[in-house]
Amino acid sequence: MAQHPIIELFERAGQAHVFAFFDRLSPVEQTQLLADAAEVDLAEVSQLYRSLVAKSEGAAGVNLAGLAPAPYEKRPEHGGDAEAWAQAKSAGELALRGGRVAAFTVAGGQGTRLGYDGPKGTFPVTPLKRKPLFHVFAEKIRAAGLRYERPLHWFIMTSHANHAATEVFFADNACFGLDPARVHFFRQGRMPAVSLDGKIILETTGSLALSPDGHGGSLRALDRSGALDLMQREGIDTLSYFQVDNPLVRCIDPALIGWHLLRDSEMTSKMVPKAYAEEKVGHFCSQGGKTVVVEYSDLPMAMQRETAANGELRYIAGSIAIHVLDREFVRRMAAGGDGATLPFHRADKKIPTVDADGTSVKPEKANGVKFEMFVFDALPFAKNAVVIETLRADDFSPVKNGEGLDSPQTCRDDQLRQFSRWLTANGANVATDASGRPNIAVEVSPLFGYDEDSFADAWEKLSPKPDVVDGLYLS
Ligand code: UD1
Repeated sequence: MAQHPIIELFERAGQAHVFAFFDRLSPVEQTQLLADAAEVDLAEVSQLYRSLVAKSEGAAGVNLAGLAPAPYEKRPEHGGDAEAWAQAKSAGELALRGGRVAAFTVAGGQGTRLGYDGPKGTFPVTPLKRKPLFHVFAEKIRAAGLRYERPLHWFIMTSHANHAATEVFFADNACFGLDPARVHFFRQGRMPAVSLDGKIILETTGSLALSPDGHGGSLRALDRSGALDLMQREGIDTLSYFQVDNPLVRCIDPALIGWHLLRDSEMTSKMVPKAYAEEKVGHFCSQGGKTVVVEYSDLPMAMQRETAANGELRYIAGSIAIHVLDREFVRRMAAGGDGATLPFHRADKKIPTVDADGTSVKPEKANGVKFEMFVFDALPFAKNAVVIETLRADDFSPVKNGEGLDSPQTCRDDQLRQFSRWLTANGANVATDASGRPNIAVEVSPLFGYDEDSFADAWEKLSPKPDVVDGLYLS
């Protein structure tokens, strides 16, 4: 019988071992393995092996030559231009009223650190109602649509592992009140893991070790899934990007959108001043006239601790993974070419596999390399990249770990502080501790107020005003 064309391609690429157990597999397993193999771009894998694995001993070092802190637009309360911020906000509101903006969540990660089994977006986060992350975002997006009288489209990138469960979750919850025709799910791509000698790793005798291609894979996936074409048909040219782990994010922030549009930028990002030198966030930097993000793991600690003349950290601009992207910029990055391609990063991992007999092996030390792209690597390719400041308390409290820093507990506390700040700013009496955390549990639905402005409007209309007591839920 003639050899399957995919098997031939793998043989020619020196990857024949992938089919070593093929004859032992059932027809269903054979089809599955061929489907896995068809996902692999052999030329890309071979090029990545040569450039990222064969040439270097460990993770490739980052080029620090000519690195300097990136400039950013300071908030008015920190000395920024209040007039320019007001103009930006108006421009963003105009774009929202014109239906030019869509929301975009990257939700393909596996949430391993949190130790939660299930799509991370289904994790309950709010202090009183225990609303899951997706529920919070859905209400914020719905509220913004109501405020600007243009319901928004919402794109959600899932992974192979959590796609079906994510769709079922939305269906079971009637899309949290959003029009299902405006909520779009698509899967990110996968990359095969390779051994240190460049062989694609079999996870079992009938499957490849494939894993998500990183949040940078979102640019390709937006294109491949037809999302960019859909945006174009709907007159949407601006995407508001955020991560699934951060319920404090202003999913739709007119000022951010406005800075992006007024500066004719292709990619605009939010920064927060780092809380302390060792904080584990990426750093916005400038290099050769371009904006780049250097991860905490790549910026030498001495540089992270450097201070400026005023005593502030020199590399103060922490990336909180909130960006606005121009639709056609995404299309250009997805197409690649002309050097405008996201680089891959390597991560050395212990990858479960099979031995020469096909018996399962759980390695004790890293036996292979996974490849991932990061969305912030698009910044140096963007025309007029802009970084603006935001207040941590208004935009950033991610749930990453089961306990301690960036955990469900710290996130609930930050939400309580935010609700209490809004209430206090509008004349309510809320007792708090020195950190601003109220000693009662209250919750504000994003449909009541999802930022300072919308909360103030809703509170003003409320008559009579409720007593702020334990268990108060404003919806
Ligand atoms: C990330 C950023 C860091 C930033 C921090 C802020 C990287 C490498 N670092 O760190 O600069 O300061 O967030 O919170 O990104 N995801 C996918 N597909 C993937 C991988 C991830 O959709 O293949 C999504 C996850 O679902 C999540 C987000 O990307 O929403 C972040 O992923 P994660 O790996 O948790 O990033 P961090 O290491 O926490």
